[in-house]
Amino acid sequence: MKRYFIAGNWKMYKTIPEAVELASELKKELADCKEKLMIAPPFTALHSVAQVIKGSNILLGAQNMGPEESGAHTGEISVLMLKDIGVRVIILGHSERRHTYGESDALINTKVRLALKHDLEVILCVGETLEEREQGVLENVIRRQLAEGLIGVDASMLPNVTIAYEPVWAIGTGKTATPEDADSVHAFCRRVIAELYGSDIAKNLVIQYGGSVKPENVVALMTKKNVDGALVGGASLKAESFVPIAKFR
Ligand code: PGA
Repeated sequence: MKRYFIAGNWKMYKTIPEAVELASELKKELADCKEKLMIAPPFTALHSVAQVIKGSNILLGAQNMGPEESGAHTGEISVLMLKDIGVRVIILGHSERRHTYGESDALINTKVRLALKHDLEVILCVGETLEEREQGVLENVIRRQLAEGLIGVDASMLPNVTIAYEPVWAIGTGKTATPEDADSVHAFCRRVIAELYGSDIAKNLVIQYGGSVKPENVVALMTKKNVDGALVGGASLKAESFVPIAKFR
């Protein structure tokens, strides 16, 4: 049976006590959940949350990472520091990093390769803006983000890569892509990965949908053939919405 990958991106929310409280609730309420689970608290709460979820079925994720192992990089967090804390998965190329902080495909690619080199899993986010969708360049954008994000990534590393399709216009807006729309873009992602890495790898690739996933729409999205999980923002900030998403079946 397919195992879905349900991930929570807490973004710039939660103090340490708030993060510990939410992580404790999730640990308890999701103990019997069979899906692959991850939560990505803000950097400041990673260490405390790591202690809470140690030994549980929830993986610790980080929302970003610096492009170098160490050095004079004021304000950056290194892959070695994240590993040290117990982080297992890194979200890279999130649209807020791309569009608010100007991260390029080349920079994201450097981070992807660095994380994979250190045996971390990567969630590589891709997605078009509303303008790009309306201009009809959605496929060009997604193809570029996938191809350039994965430059230099060997096929042997693809099992550690999850793709998250997050249409920018659906993030935090309450607008969700229709399940059919999501499925067709996911199918397109799979075709691009098949061109790059062959059909076996493409078939096994986990593709999450992200953008206003909620308890009310999760079933319709997850039951689409090409949707293998969810990257959840707003609804991951409360156990009362994240738990039913993770336990959608
Ligand atoms: P949202 O965010 O669920 O609040 O739309 C998703 C994301 O940015 O990963």
